Amino acid sequence: MEHKTKTAFPQDFLWGAASAAYQVEGAWNEDGKGPSVWDNFVRIPGTTYKGSNGDIAVDHYHRYKEDVSLMAEQGLKTYRFSIAWSRIFPTGNGEINEKGLEFYDKLIDELLSYNIEPMITLYHWDIPQALMDQYNGWESRQIIEDFNNYARVLFERYGDRVKYWISLNEQNYFVSYGYETALHPPGVKDRKRMYEVNHIANLANATVIKSFRELVPNGKIGPSFAYKPYYPIDSNPENILAFENSEDLNNYFWMDIYAWGQYPITAWKYLKEQNLTPTIHDGDLELLRSAKPDFMGVNYYRTTTVEKNPLAGGVDIGVKNTTGKKGSGSQSGVPGMFKTTSNPHVETTNWDWDIDPQGLRIGLRRIATRYQLPVLITENGLGEFDKLEEGDIINDDYRIEYLKSHIQSIQDAISDGVDVLGYCAWSFTDLLSWLNGYQKRYGFVYVDRDEDSAKDLRRIKKKSFDWYKHVIETNGESL
Ligand code: BG6
Repeated sequence: MEHKTKTAFPQDFLWGAASAAYQVEGAWNEDGKGPSVWDNFVRIPGTTYKGSNGDIAVDHYHRYKEDVSLMAEQGLKTYRFSIAWSRIFPTGNGEINEKGLEFYDKLIDELLSYNIEPMITLYHWDIPQALMDQYNGWESRQIIEDFNNYARVLFERYGDRVKYWISLNEQNYFVSYGYETALHPPGVKDRKRMYEVNHIANLANATVIKSFRELVPNGKIGPSFAYKPYYPIDSNPENILAFENSEDLNNYFWMDIYAWGQYPITAWKYLKEQNLTPTIHDGDLELLRSAKPDFMGVNYYRTTTVEKNPLAGGVDIGVKNTTGKKGSGSQSGVPGMFKTTSNPHVETTNWDWDIDPQGLRIGLRRIATRYQLPVLITENGLGEFDKLEEGDIINDDYRIEYLKSHIQSIQDAISDGVDVLGYCAWSFTDLLSWLNGYQKRYGFVYVDRDEDSAKDLRRIKKKSFDWYKHVIETNGESL
């Protein structure tokens, strides 16, 4: 669709940036915090790039004031961050750690003192290790009660000051990386267990949304879905079918649940044939249907192109590029459904991610058309090598180009009629990229550290810092 003139960004558009507790905070065992699964997983040799971990991360726990003052200088309207469950409940359930709650009180108040809207993610993958020990974490329905109890504590404590909340960050990733590819904790490769875990996570998500309605009636809540819109490689009907399979199994399988409380018919049939369907109890589907989010949170980085993949001998789980060596990732797929292939029309990053700003517009339109929900872009950004040059200069023009083209694409989607509430760039400062160490950088603010040493953790503004500042100042008109 072409427009004679583009629609302007809404006046109250939430220009922001995002992070997650484990990736920025550090202080992994301070002030009563219990270990999370990530604190243990990173200590298993071979799990992360050069054995990198978040023990210190970028030390946001101790430097949050400096970080927030930089956010204010940039003019952020919102800052999305996650709460570390095991700071609040060191043993997952049981005793509350007041010191943990106090840290986030201070962070929220600091943000508010600069008129930056805090946006809280309840869960960004760091489940308390104690809950794995007690009952295998997400594999037990006991987690629904414990997660809800944890969320209620947060709603009661911060609900007077925080309006925007994210329930689960990238449920589709934490279940598939945790239980299908074994790249994240608990390192399991078992699709049946993955779908069981996923169903339980759906129930937990719906349960906390219901609690939210009761405790924060004027707030807004939704999940953050890792959305990779799919394309067919060509117009061969076999490949169009593979594309439909990928959308059903990898996207609608989550978003249909969030929006409508139901699993897509064809994906469900496939799982049934493979004996992979999760156990559904009486009342589950009613619960899922009763908890509609206020918005679809979207983490968008790339699109993926697919083609036919036979059931017998088809491509299965592939290799992920975690080194930044272009071309080191491989094809992956689900036999009988689809397999990935390269898209000749787009460039890729050094980590083999397709760079596709139009894909964001396409994805936003698909969501708006299918669900008629507003969208909040909770993550988008470019992970790249950055070079610190003499005089504390980082010329990250490639990041500016990436962000600019994606924000322009959002404006196109708004012009198409999509209701977009805000945009959180990933990330504000550089941070730990779970499997890729510190060399895959995303921030507007460079942090002087690497995998070998925490160095001085100095904050240095990149060229993109001032560029985004100007975008915010002009409410996107400078684009
Ligand atoms: C999302 C996560 O998957 O993408 C973030 O919510 C993550 O936590 C980001 O850092 C970028 O991924 P990666 O693997 O490059 O760090």
